[in-house]
Amino acid sequence: MSENWAQMKELAVEWMMHAGAMLKESLHDVIAVETKSNPNDLVTEMDYKVERYLTEQILRTYPSHHVLGEEEAGKDIQSTDGIVWIIDPIDGTTNFVHQKFNFAISVGVIKDGVGQIGIVYNVMQGEWFTAVLGEGAYLNGQKLPPVTETTLPEAVIGMNGRWLAREKRSGEQSLHTMVRRSRSVRSYGSAAIELAYVACGRLDSYISFHLSPWDYAAGLVLLNEVGVDVTDFQGQRPSFIRRSRILAARPGLHKELLSYVYNHEGFLK
Ligand code: IPD
Ligand code: CA
Ligand code: CA
Ligand code: CA
Repeated sequence: MSENWAQMKELAVEWMMHAGAMLKESLHDVIAVETKSNPNDLVTEMDYKVERYLTEQILRTYPSHHVLGEEEAGKDIQSTDGIVWIIDPIDGTTNFVHQKFNFAISVGVIKDGVGQIGIVYNVMQGEWFTAVLGEGAYLNGQKLPPVTETTLPEAVIGMNGRWLAREKRSGEQSLHTMVRRSRSVRSYGSAAIELAYVACGRLDSYISFHLSPWDYAAGLVLLNEVGVDVTDFQGQRPSFIRRSRILAARPGLHKELLSYVYNHEGFLK
């Protein structure tokens, strides 16, 4: 059966818009916040509410599809067979709680392991990054141009400073050296937004040692449409259903940065 991806994307946008309104409204209330694996790992009642709402809409409309979400949905999913919606109800929960700003809803749809739809909605900025495989990537309806080559001295890299703080390597191939040779570094606290920023040229690269499928699924589809290379630290494509290290960078720069992160285990669990 051939899917109508464009229509599916439109429906997803509609549901995400509603979910975004739920999040904005909740900012006026006192929200229940808990910690998960450690004191830095927050989850709120809104993460659950939005994930449940989106899951319900998806499965009501497409009963044969699967949903993999950060909080509850699809814990048993082991394969990329069929159509899987990969959703992060709030990417940047720490920002949601502490800043009420710079958080996103991220929805990716894959079929048999191939990314088909990617949507990152930066709720408070009102920015929609959308893509359908082969149809280009868009920011608020404006088509994003393909990216061009760049080099490290001209590059602004998105990365969480904690990775640097925990670096065990030193010398020529260390992250510290890479950062010193770059133009600058930024950290926004939402992987989905940072990947979308690479797609639209606000960042030249985004690097993470530890991302889950819901953090990167939508971003991968967006980046594929504008020609940004995305791999793990061995140069392999991430699988969409496993945790992965992620190096996303404009052509030329990707090869250069891979030499810094290649085989970089350091502090990793
Ligand atoms: C987190 C954010 C953060 C990234 C973490 C993610 P969450 O997602 O994207 O920027 O550094 O690795 O887990 O928990 O806010 O959805
Ligand atoms: Ca989380
Ligand atoms: Ca996330
Ligand atoms: Ca999340």
